Amino acid sequence: MNKILVAGTGITKFGELWSKSLRQLALEASLLALKDAGLSPDDIDGVYVANMIAPTTSGQSHLGPLVTGELGINVQAVHIEAACASGGTAIQLAAESIKSGQNKTVLVVGVEKMTDLSTPDITAALMQASDDEVESFYGANFAGLYALMATVYMDKYGLTQKDLATIAVKNHHNARLNPNAHFHNSITVDDVLNSAPVASPLKLFDCSPISDGAAAVILTSETNVVKNKVKVSVLASSSATDSLSLCNRQDLTSLKSARLAAKNAYQQANIKPKDINVAEVHDCFTIAEVFAMEDLGFYEKGMAFKGIRNAETTLSGKLPINTSGGLKGCGHPVGATGIKQVIEIVHQLEGTAGDRQIPNVRYGLTHNVGGSGSTCVVSIFGI
Ligand code: COA
Repeated sequence: MNKILVAGTGITKFGELWSKSLRQLALEASLLALKDAGLSPDDIDGVYVANMIAPTTSGQSHLGPLVTGELGINVQAVHIEAACASGGTAIQLAAESIKSGQNKTVLVVGVEKMTDLSTPDITAALMQASDDEVESFYGANFAGLYALMATVYMDKYGLTQKDLATIAVKNHHNARLNPNAHFHNSITVDDVLNSAPVASPLKLFDCSPISDGAAAVILTSETNVVKNKVKVSVLASSSATDSLSLCNRQDLTSLKSARLAAKNAYQQANIKPKDINVAEVHDCFTIAEVFAMEDLGFYEKGMAFKGIRNAETTLSGKLPINTSGGLKGCGHPVGATGIKQVIEIVHQLEGTAGDRQIPNVRYGLTHNVGGSGSTCVVSIFGI
Protein backbone atom coordinates (compact mmCIF):
# COMPACT_ATOMS: atom_id res chain seq x y z
CA MET A 1 0.00 0.00 0.00
CA ASN A 2 1.28 3.50 -0.82
CA LYS A 3 2.27 5.64 2.14
CA ILE A 4 0.48 8.99 2.16
CA LEU A 5 2.46 11.99 3.34
CA VAL A 6 1.51 15.62 3.89
CA ALA A 7 3.91 17.61 1.69
CA GLY A 8 2.61 21.13 2.41
CA THR A 9 -0.16 23.21 3.95
CA GLY A 10 -1.62 26.66 3.28
CA ILE A 11 -4.38 28.61 4.99
CA THR A 12 -5.93 32.07 4.71
CA LYS A 13 -7.18 34.10 7.62
CA PHE A 14 -10.69 33.04 8.68
CA GLY A 15 -13.28 35.75 9.38
CA GLU A 16 -15.21 38.44 7.55
CA LEU A 17 -13.07 38.81 4.42
CA TRP A 18 -15.19 41.18 2.37
CA SER A 19 -12.35 42.23 0.07
CA LYS A 20 -11.59 38.67 -1.11
CA SER A 21 -13.64 36.55 -3.50
CA LEU A 22 -14.23 32.80 -3.37
CA ARG A 23 -11.72 32.35 -6.20
CA GLN A 24 -9.07 34.53 -4.55
CA LEU A 25 -9.38 32.66 -1.25
CA ALA A 26 -9.09 29.23 -2.93
CA LEU A 27 -6.08 30.38 -4.94
CA GLU A 28 -4.36 32.02 -1.95
CA ALA A 29 -4.55 28.83 0.16
CA SER A 30 -3.51 26.62 -2.79
CA LEU A 31 -0.46 28.74 -3.63
CA LEU A 32 0.59 28.84 0.04
CA ALA A 33 0.38 25.03 0.21
CA LEU A 34 2.39 24.63 -3.01
CA LYS A 35 5.01 27.06 -1.71
CA ASP A 36 5.19 25.22 1.61
CA ALA A 37 5.74 21.96 -0.27
CA GLY A 38 8.31 23.53 -2.60
CA LEU A 39 6.22 22.40 -5.59
CA SER A 40 4.83 24.04 -8.71
CA PRO A 41 1.28 23.49 -10.05
CA ASP A 42 2.75 21.18 -12.70
CA ASP A 43 3.72 18.71 -9.96
CA ILE A 44 0.03 18.15 -9.09
CA ASP A 45 -1.88 15.31 -10.77
CA GLY A 46 -5.27 15.65 -9.09
CA VAL A 47 -7.28 18.47 -7.45
CA TYR A 48 -10.07 18.02 -4.86
CA VAL A 49 -12.07 21.15 -4.03
CA ALA A 50 -14.28 21.04 -0.92
CA ASN A 51 -17.17 23.47 -0.78
CA MET A 52 -20.77 23.44 0.35
CA ILE A 53 -22.72 26.54 -0.70
CA ALA A 54 -20.80 28.50 -3.35
CA PRO A 55 -23.62 27.96 -5.86
CA THR A 56 -25.88 29.91 -3.46
CA THR A 57 -23.42 32.42 -2.00
CA SER A 58 -21.28 33.18 -5.07
CA GLY A 59 -23.35 31.85 -7.99
CA GLN A 60 -20.46 29.49 -8.67
CA SER A 61 -20.40 25.74 -9.04
CA HIS A 62 -17.92 23.49 -10.92
CA LEU A 63 -15.07 24.53 -8.61
CA GLY A 64 -12.61 21.88 -9.85
CA PRO A 65 -11.77 23.70 -13.08
CA LEU A 66 -12.10 27.05 -11.30
CA VAL A 67 -9.00 26.08 -9.28
CA THR A 68 -7.09 24.26 -12.05
CA GLY A 69 -7.76 27.19 -14.39
CA GLU A 70 -6.30 29.66 -11.90
CA LEU A 71 -3.27 27.36 -11.43
CA GLY A 72 -2.83 26.92 -15.19
CA ILE A 73 -3.03 23.12 -15.16
CA ASN A 74 -5.37 20.64 -16.88
CA VAL A 75 -5.45 17.65 -14.51
CA GLN A 76 -8.54 15.86 -13.18
CA ALA A 77 -10.34 18.08 -10.67
CA VAL A 78 -13.52 17.46 -8.68
CA HIS A 79 -15.83 19.54 -6.48
CA ILE A 80 -16.80 17.66 -3.33
CA GLU A 81 -19.85 18.48 -1.22
CA ALA A 82 -20.74 16.75 2.04
CA ALA A 83 -22.14 19.74 3.95
CA CYS A 84 -19.79 20.85 6.76
CA ALA A 85 -17.85 17.58 6.27
CA SER A 86 -16.89 18.53 2.69
CA GLY A 87 -13.26 19.17 3.72
CA GLY A 88 -12.82 15.89 5.58
CA THR A 89 -14.48 14.00 2.73
CA ALA A 90 -12.14 15.61 0.19
CA ILE A 91 -9.14 14.59 2.31
CA GLN A 92 -10.43 11.02 2.51
CA LEU A 93 -11.09 10.73 -1.24
CA ALA A 94 -7.75 12.35 -2.11
CA ALA A 95 -5.92 9.96 0.21
CA GLU A 96 -7.75 7.00 -1.35
CA SER A 97 -6.75 8.17 -4.84
CA ILE A 98 -3.12 8.00 -3.74
CA LYS A 99 -3.56 4.70 -1.92
CA SER A 100 -5.02 3.15 -5.08
CA GLY A 101 -2.10 4.37 -7.18
CA GLN A 102 -4.34 6.63 -9.29
CA ASN A 103 -2.51 9.78 -8.19
CA LYS A 104 0.92 10.58 -6.78
CA THR A 105 0.61 14.17 -5.60
CA VAL A 106 -2.74 15.91 -5.06
CA LEU A 107 -3.97 19.32 -3.97
CA VAL A 108 -6.94 19.35 -1.59
CA VAL A 109 -8.43 22.80 -1.08
CA GLY A 110 -11.52 23.80 0.89
CA VAL A 111 -13.14 27.18 0.54
CA GLU A 112 -16.29 28.99 1.66
CA LYS A 113 -17.43 32.58 1.28
CA MET A 114 -20.37 33.15 3.63
CA THR A 115 -20.42 36.66 5.07
CA ASP A 116 -21.71 38.43 1.93
CA LEU A 117 -25.18 37.03 2.69
CA SER A 118 -27.44 37.93 5.62
CA THR A 119 -27.67 35.52 8.56
CA PRO A 120 -31.20 34.35 7.54
CA ASP A 121 -30.03 33.68 3.97
CA ILE A 122 -26.94 31.74 5.14
CA THR A 123 -29.08 29.81 7.62
CA ALA A 124 -31.43 28.80 4.79
CA ALA A 125 -28.47 27.81 2.59
CA LEU A 126 -26.93 25.69 5.36
CA MET A 127 -30.28 23.99 5.99
CA GLN A 128 -30.12 22.46 2.51
CA ALA A 129 -27.94 19.89 4.31
CA SER A 130 -30.78 18.85 6.64
CA ASP A 131 -33.89 16.84 5.74
CA ASP A 132 -36.07 19.26 3.80
CA GLU A 133 -39.29 17.29 4.20
CA VAL A 134 -39.23 16.93 7.98
CA GLU A 135 -36.84 19.64 9.25
CA SER A 136 -36.13 22.75 7.18
CA PHE A 137 -39.64 22.85 5.69
CA TYR A 138 -40.95 23.35 9.25
CA GLY A 139 -38.50 26.15 10.05
CA ALA A 140 -35.82 24.20 11.92
CA ASN A 141 -32.24 25.39 11.75
CA PHE A 142 -29.00 23.75 12.89
CA ALA A 143 -28.84 25.69 16.14
CA GLY A 144 -32.34 24.37 16.89
CA LEU A 145 -31.45 20.78 15.96
CA TYR A 146 -28.31 20.77 18.13
CA ALA A 147 -30.34 22.45 20.92
CA LEU A 148 -32.76 19.51 20.80
CA MET A 149 -29.86 17.07 21.13
CA ALA A 150 -28.32 19.17 23.92
CA THR A 151 -31.60 19.15 25.84
CA VAL A 152 -31.89 15.34 25.71
CA TYR A 153 -28.21 14.87 26.65
CA MET A 154 -28.27 17.38 29.54
CA ASP A 155 -31.44 15.86 30.92
CA LYS A 156 -30.00 12.33 30.79
CA TYR A 157 -26.42 12.96 31.96
CA GLY A 158 -26.58 16.10 34.09
CA LEU A 159 -24.34 18.24 31.88
CA THR A 160 -24.85 21.92 32.70
CA GLN A 161 -24.88 25.13 30.71
CA LYS A 162 -21.73 26.06 32.61
CA ASP A 163 -20.02 22.94 31.22
CA LEU A 164 -20.97 23.99 27.69
CA ALA A 165 -19.76 27.53 28.39
CA THR A 166 -16.40 26.16 29.59
CA ILE A 167 -15.86 24.64 26.13
CA ALA A 168 -16.53 27.98 24.42
CA VAL A 169 -14.14 29.78 26.82
CA LYS A 170 -11.36 27.22 26.08
CA ASN A 171 -11.83 27.48 22.32
CA HIS A 172 -11.82 31.29 22.34
CA HIS A 173 -8.65 31.15 24.49
CA ASN A 174 -6.93 28.89 21.93
CA ALA A 175 -8.12 31.05 19.03
CA ARG A 176 -6.41 34.06 20.61
CA LEU A 177 -3.12 32.24 20.02
CA ASN A 178 -3.97 31.49 16.37
CA PRO A 179 -3.20 34.39 14.00
CA ASN A 180 -5.59 32.97 11.36
CA ALA A 181 -8.59 32.67 13.72
CA HIS A 182 -11.88 34.55 13.20
CA PHE A 183 -12.02 35.67 16.84
CA HIS A 184 -9.22 36.97 19.06
CA ASN A 185 -11.34 38.00 22.03
CA SER A 186 -11.20 36.24 25.40
CA ILE A 187 -14.54 35.37 26.92
CA THR A 188 -15.57 34.20 30.39
CA VAL A 189 -18.14 31.63 31.46
CA ASP A 190 -20.37 34.51 32.55
CA ASP A 191 -20.05 36.12 29.10
CA VAL A 192 -21.33 32.89 27.56
CA LEU A 193 -24.14 32.43 30.09
CA ASN A 194 -25.23 36.05 29.65
CA SER A 195 -25.03 36.06 25.85
CA ALA A 196 -28.19 36.17 23.73
CA PRO A 197 -30.24 32.97 23.53
CA VAL A 198 -30.12 31.46 20.02
CA ALA A 199 -31.99 28.16 20.55
CA SER A 200 -32.35 27.24 24.21
CA PRO A 201 -30.16 25.99 25.87
CA LEU A 202 -27.63 27.25 23.26
CA LYS A 203 -26.58 30.90 23.44
CA LEU A 204 -24.66 33.11 21.03
CA PHE A 205 -21.29 32.01 22.40
CA ASP A 206 -22.24 28.32 22.13
CA CYS A 207 -22.43 28.75 18.34
CA SER A 208 -19.72 28.72 15.71
CA PRO A 209 -19.81 31.90 13.62
CA ILE A 210 -20.47 32.51 9.93
CA SER A 211 -17.01 32.87 8.34
CA ASP A 212 -15.09 33.22 5.08
CA GLY A 213 -11.81 31.37 4.50
CA ALA A 214 -9.86 28.70 2.66
CA ALA A 215 -7.37 25.98 3.57
CA ALA A 216 -5.27 23.63 1.43
CA VAL A 217 -3.00 20.63 1.84
CA ILE A 218 -0.81 18.72 -0.59
CA LEU A 219 -0.82 14.94 -0.14
CA THR A 220 1.76 12.76 -1.85
CA SER A 221 3.07 9.22 -2.05
CA GLU A 222 6.50 10.46 -3.12
CA THR A 223 8.78 10.40 -0.09
CA ASN A 224 11.35 12.52 -1.91
CA VAL A 225 8.81 15.33 -2.40
CA VAL A 226 8.74 16.00 1.36
CA LYS A 227 12.02 17.80 1.90
CA ASN A 228 13.44 19.36 5.05
CA LYS A 229 10.23 18.73 6.97
CA VAL A 230 9.03 16.35 9.65
CA LYS A 231 7.24 13.62 7.68
CA VAL A 232 3.58 13.52 8.69
CA SER A 233 1.57 10.54 7.38
CA VAL A 234 -2.14 10.02 6.90
CA LEU A 235 -2.56 6.81 8.93
CA ALA A 236 -6.33 6.51 8.50
CA SER A 237 -9.32 8.29 7.02
CA SER A 238 -12.79 6.85 7.35
CA SER A 239 -16.33 8.14 7.04
CA ALA A 240 -19.80 6.95 7.93
CA THR A 241 -23.33 8.27 7.69
CA ASP A 242 -26.61 8.41 9.60
CA SER A 243 -30.12 9.56 8.69
CA LEU A 244 -30.42 13.15 7.47
CA SER A 245 -33.17 13.82 9.99
CA LEU A 246 -32.98 13.58 13.78
CA CYS A 247 -36.43 11.99 13.97
CA ASN A 248 -35.11 8.80 12.37
CA ARG A 249 -32.38 8.25 14.97
CA GLN A 250 -32.58 5.94 17.96
CA ASP A 251 -30.28 8.03 20.15
CA LEU A 252 -29.98 11.81 20.27
CA THR A 253 -27.10 11.85 22.79
CA SER A 254 -24.39 10.67 20.40
CA LEU A 255 -23.57 10.70 16.67
CA LYS A 256 -23.62 7.15 15.29
CA SER A 257 -21.74 8.27 12.15
CA ALA A 258 -18.88 9.50 14.35
CA ARG A 259 -18.73 6.31 16.40
CA LEU A 260 -18.62 4.16 13.24
CA ALA A 261 -16.05 6.34 11.45
CA ALA A 262 -13.85 6.45 14.57
CA LYS A 263 -13.96 2.70 15.10
CA ASN A 264 -12.86 2.10 11.52
CA ALA A 265 -10.17 4.81 11.65
CA TYR A 266 -8.62 3.38 14.84
CA GLN A 267 -8.58 -0.06 13.17
CA GLN A 268 -6.93 1.34 10.02
CA ALA A 269 -4.27 3.16 12.05
CA ASN A 270 -3.90 0.22 14.45
CA ILE A 271 -4.04 2.47 17.50
CA LYS A 272 -6.45 3.11 20.37
CA PRO A 273 -8.19 6.31 21.51
CA LYS A 274 -5.75 6.57 24.43
CA ASP A 275 -2.86 6.89 21.92
CA ILE A 276 -4.18 10.19 20.51
CA ASN A 277 -2.23 13.21 21.82
CA VAL A 278 -4.28 16.03 20.26
CA ALA A 279 -7.62 16.26 18.43
CA GLU A 280 -9.46 18.79 16.31
CA VAL A 281 -13.18 18.09 16.64
CA HIS A 282 -16.27 19.57 15.02
CA ASP A 283 -17.63 21.97 17.68
CA CYS A 284 -20.19 23.68 15.42
CA PHE A 285 -22.10 24.10 18.70
CA THR A 286 -20.54 23.45 22.11
CA ILE A 287 -22.68 20.34 22.67
CA ALA A 288 -21.05 18.84 19.53
CA GLU A 289 -17.65 18.88 21.26
CA VAL A 290 -19.19 16.92 24.16
CA PHE A 291 -20.51 14.30 21.71
CA ALA A 292 -17.09 14.12 20.02
CA MET A 293 -15.28 13.54 23.34
CA GLU A 294 -17.42 10.43 23.87
CA ASP A 295 -17.99 9.23 20.27
CA LEU A 296 -14.22 9.22 19.66
CA GLY A 297 -13.69 6.99 22.71
CA PHE A 298 -11.85 9.58 24.82
CA TYR A 299 -14.53 9.45 27.56
CA GLU A 300 -17.17 6.91 28.56
CA LYS A 301 -20.77 7.74 27.64
CA GLY A 302 -22.09 10.57 29.82
CA MET A 303 -18.66 11.24 31.35
CA ALA A 304 -17.34 14.08 29.14
CA PHE A 305 -18.29 16.54 31.90
CA LYS A 306 -15.41 15.18 34.00
CA GLY A 307 -12.90 16.11 31.30
CA ILE A 308 -14.45 19.57 30.97
CA ARG A 309 -14.54 20.28 34.73
CA ASN A 310 -10.97 18.97 35.23
CA ALA A 311 -9.66 21.09 32.30
CA GLU A 312 -8.32 17.92 30.65
CA THR A 313 -8.90 19.23 27.12
CA THR A 314 -7.15 22.61 27.55
CA LEU A 315 -3.72 23.29 26.02
CA SER A 316 -2.04 22.01 29.20
CA GLY A 317 -4.49 19.16 29.79
CA LYS A 318 -3.94 15.45 29.17
CA LEU A 319 -5.79 15.50 25.81
CA PRO A 320 -5.89 18.99 24.27
CA ILE A 321 -8.92 19.42 21.99
CA ASN A 322 -9.32 22.16 19.38
CA THR A 323 -5.95 23.82 19.82
CA SER A 324 -6.74 25.91 16.70
CA GLY A 325 -9.70 27.46 18.51
CA GLY A 326 -12.09 24.96 16.93
CA LEU A 327 -15.03 26.05 14.85
CA LYS A 328 -16.16 28.23 17.73
CA GLY A 329 -13.06 30.43 17.97
CA CYS A 330 -11.18 29.86 14.71
CA GLY A 331 -14.37 30.17 12.65
CA HIS A 332 -16.40 27.88 10.39
CA PRO A 333 -16.18 28.57 6.65
CA VAL A 334 -17.84 25.22 6.14
CA GLY A 335 -15.98 23.82 3.10
CA ALA A 336 -12.61 24.85 4.56
CA THR A 337 -13.15 23.57 8.12
CA GLY A 338 -12.19 19.90 7.65
CA ILE A 339 -8.96 20.93 5.93
CA LYS A 340 -8.13 23.55 8.57
CA GLN A 341 -8.46 20.78 11.17
CA VAL A 342 -5.90 18.69 9.27
CA ILE A 343 -3.50 21.66 9.02
CA GLU A 344 -3.66 22.24 12.78
CA ILE A 345 -2.88 18.57 13.47
CA VAL A 346 -0.01 18.62 10.94
CA HIS A 347 1.45 21.70 12.67
CA GLN A 348 1.14 19.98 16.05
CA LEU A 349 2.94 16.89 14.70
CA GLU A 350 5.65 18.97 13.00
CA GLY A 351 6.15 21.08 16.12
CA THR A 352 5.25 24.29 14.24
CA ALA A 353 2.06 25.25 16.13
CA GLY A 354 3.70 28.25 17.81
CA ASP A 355 2.12 29.37 21.10
CA ARG A 356 -0.43 26.55 20.77
CA GLN A 357 2.20 23.81 20.51
CA ILE A 358 1.59 20.67 22.59
CA PRO A 359 4.75 18.77 23.62
CA ASN A 360 5.54 15.24 22.34
CA VAL A 361 2.76 14.81 19.80
CA ARG A 362 2.92 11.43 18.07
CA TYR A 363 -0.69 10.91 16.92
CA GLY A 364 -3.36 13.50 16.08
CA LEU A 365 -7.00 13.07 15.03
CA THR A 366 -9.55 15.11 13.08
CA HIS A 367 -13.34 14.73 13.40
CA ASN A 368 -15.39 16.56 10.76
CA VAL A 369 -19.20 16.40 10.86
CA GLY A 370 -21.77 17.23 8.18
CA GLY A 371 -25.23 18.50 9.15
CA SER A 372 -26.56 17.23 12.46
CA GLY A 373 -24.29 14.16 12.25
CA SER A 374 -25.50 12.72 8.95
CA THR A 375 -21.88 12.44 7.76
CA CYS A 376 -18.73 12.15 9.84
CA VAL A 377 -15.14 11.76 8.67
CA VAL A 378 -12.44 10.76 11.15
CA SER A 379 -8.79 10.90 10.10
CA ILE A 380 -5.65 10.01 12.03
CA PHE A 381 -2.19 11.42 11.38
CA GLY A 382 1.16 10.43 12.81
CA ILE A 383 4.92 10.82 12.55
N1 COA B 1 -19.78 33.65 18.40
C1 COA B 1 -19.31 34.81 18.92
N2 COA B 1 -19.64 36.03 18.44
C2 COA B 1 -20.45 36.05 17.36
C3 COA B 1 -20.96 34.88 16.75
C4 COA B 1 -20.60 33.65 17.32
N3 COA B 1 -21.05 32.52 16.78
N4 COA B 1 -21.72 35.25 15.70
C5 COA B 1 -21.70 36.59 15.63
N5 COA B 1 -20.93 37.07 16.65
C6 COA B 1 -20.68 38.48 17.00
C7 COA B 1 -20.27 39.27 15.78
O1 COA B 1 -18.86 39.32 15.66
C8 COA B 1 -20.83 40.63 16.14
O2 COA B 1 -19.98 41.27 17.06
P1 COA B 1 -19.74 42.86 17.02
O3 COA B 1 -21.09 43.47 17.25
O4 COA B 1 -18.76 43.08 18.13
O5 COA B 1 -19.20 43.13 15.65
C9 COA B 1 -22.11 40.32 16.87
O6 COA B 1 -21.94 39.00 17.42
C10 COA B 1 -23.34 40.33 15.98
O7 COA B 1 -23.04 39.60 14.80
P2 COA B 1 -24.14 39.16 13.77
O8 COA B 1 -23.46 38.67 12.53
O9 COA B 1 -25.16 40.24 13.62
O10 COA B 1 -24.78 37.92 14.51
P3 COA B 1 -26.07 37.17 14.10
O11 COA B 1 -27.06 37.29 15.21
O12 COA B 1 -26.51 37.56 12.71
O13 COA B 1 -25.55 35.63 14.01
C11 COA B 1 -25.53 33.44 14.93
C12 COA B 1 -25.25 34.92 15.18
C13 COA B 1 -25.15 32.63 16.16
C14 COA B 1 -27.03 33.23 14.62
C15 COA B 1 -24.68 32.97 13.70
O14 COA B 1 -23.30 33.14 14.01
C16 COA B 1 -24.94 31.53 13.34
O15 COA B 1 -25.95 31.23 12.68
N6 COA B 1 -24.05 30.61 13.68
C17 COA B 1 -24.21 29.19 13.38
C18 COA B 1 -23.73 28.88 11.97
C19 COA B 1 -24.09 27.47 11.59
O16 COA B 1 -25.20 27.00 11.78
N7 COA B 1 -23.14 26.74 10.98
C20 COA B 1 -23.35 25.38 10.58
C21 COA B 1 -23.27 24.47 11.74
S1 COA B 1 -23.89 22.85 11.44
